[in-house]
Amino acid sequence: MERIFLIGFMGSGKSTIGSELCARLHADFADTDAYIEEMQGRLIKDIFAVEGEAYFRDLETRAIQEVSGTVVSTGGGIVERKENITAMKERGKIVYLHASFPEISRRLAGDETRPLWKQDEQEKEKLFNRRQPLYEEAADLTVKTDGKDVEQIVSDIIAGLGIVHKQA
Ligand code: S3P
Repeated sequence: MERIFLIGFMGSGKSTIGSELCARLHADFADTDAYIEEMQGRLIKDIFAVEGEAYFRDLETRAIQEVSGTVVSTGGGIVERKENITAMKERGKIVYLHASFPEISRRLAGDETRPLWKQDEQEKEKLFNRRQPLYEEAADLTVKTDGKDVEQIVSDIIAGLGIVHKQA
């Protein structure tokens, strides 16, 4: 089966949807953030705090090239570098999980694990707006997620990509 890369803003559900998609397709799952934390033996927030964002972005570029897994969920900033998008396109299909900013704000209320979520509301919304066209241009398929449950989103991805699979 062709590989599937899930992209989208922080809190768009990439990890949750990725694992459920894998369960449905009997495929194996990987996550670039988890890959980086394992490779570094420390948490992303600590990598940001000690080394800064640019260092993290280099690790992320390495991760997208090295990580295996049929379904790969990515960090929200994966689209910040063109070479990351090229790497995903060379390896499979890109699915953008779209969630609205109010929905993301609701889901990530009180989150302390994401360095780029710990800024004021205006900055976060600016980042969200700046990234929208990057996600949209990179995507082979965009799935809107507001108001949908996990099952529905997974079904939308499978149908949208035209994946034929055996029911378990
Ligand atoms: C980031 C998103 C995070 C993580 C890092 C940077 C971003 O991943 O990669 O904190 O730039 O949007 P999630 O999208 O899984 O939260």
